[in-house]
Amino acid sequence: MSVETLLPDAAAEPSPEWFAEVRELARRRDAVLLAHNYQLPAIQDVADHVGDSLALSRIAAESDASTIVFCGVHFMAETAKILSPDKTVLIPDARAGCSLADSITADQLREWRSEHPDAVVVSYVNTTAAVKAETDVCCTSSNAVDVVASIPVEREVLFLPDQFLGAHVRRVLDRTNMHVWAGECHVHAGINGAELSAQAQAHPDADLFVHPECGCATSALYLATSGSVPEDRVKILSTGGMVDAARATGAKEVLVATEVGMLHQLRRAAPEIDFRAVNERASCRYMKMITPEALLRSVREGTDEVHVDRELAERGRTAVQRMIEIGNPGSGE
Ligand code: 13P
Ligand code: SF4
Repeated sequence: MSVETLLPDAAAEPSPEWFAEVRELARRRDAVLLAHNYQLPAIQDVADHVGDSLALSRIAAESDASTIVFCGVHFMAETAKILSPDKTVLIPDARAGCSLADSITADQLREWRSEHPDAVVVSYVNTTAAVKAETDVCCTSSNAVDVVASIPVEREVLFLPDQFLGAHVRRVLDRTNMHVWAGECHVHAGINGAELSAQAQAHPDADLFVHPECGCATSALYLATSGSVPEDRVKILSTGGMVDAARATGAKEVLVATEVGMLHQLRRAAPEIDFRAVNERASCRYMKMITPEALLRSVREGTDEVHVDRELAERGRTAVQRMIEIGNPGSGE
């Protein structure tokens, strides 16, 4: 069946036929379908595994499938390719980039490093393969604190590229010899403290789930330490950590400060809870480039294949493998 027959209206929910066709083509291709928590609901529902960046990296590395279809953004698919150079890695739309990954280049990192020659370079996984090749250890939002904590306290740390995650790690570990790159994700930076405070006031019994990339992460902790919101209600979490916390909380209402795609997994995990986005406009246009149509083409035609230069991949692999080995395993299933 043609893509047009299965998806006559791009705006409509995909049909059961689309679902069956994607699954069947993936099976024939010996492909595993991975979806990040920010993907469109239909993409999450059709995938074999849904999770945060760290969990998906692990699953990609451990999978027996010969092809990985990564429904996420480009650096995630690149990371899978770095870990599994002999597998075919596909991303349904190679234009799905990341504003945070674009906020530092390998040249800029080399220059920064030359100013701190003894420092350990910690890069968030939201970086290009070229930046990973210049990195000592990668981290994700799930294990950033554990990764920096594993570095001897007397060593300087260069942390990049997210300033809000960096500030969070520095605050938790009270680490003064940690320099943080001034990058940000345009989606999370836009979720601000004023919005969070207003929503927290309007919903006094709600839990607050806040991704550490958010511009409001500092305000969230201020709300907790100033007593405006009970401390145990404020949780700074990776996307996968939010799903685990949703299952564990006794709250009836949760305010969610991250990309809005997250609400789908949260509602699946705990249908009895009222989840509300702190900022309903916080949608990542790159994540949303992975449309049902693009995924169908991908499993049908093998598009878009992700390539990482062998030498760059080899140089980046140790840093990515360290990321997988340190701290909590991330969350996804
Ligand atoms: P997680 O590692 O929490 O899944 O976040 C990835 C990401 O891109 C957040 O914007
Ligand atoms: Fe990148 Fe931000 Fe989109 Fe995450 S939400 S993929 S950090 S642009």
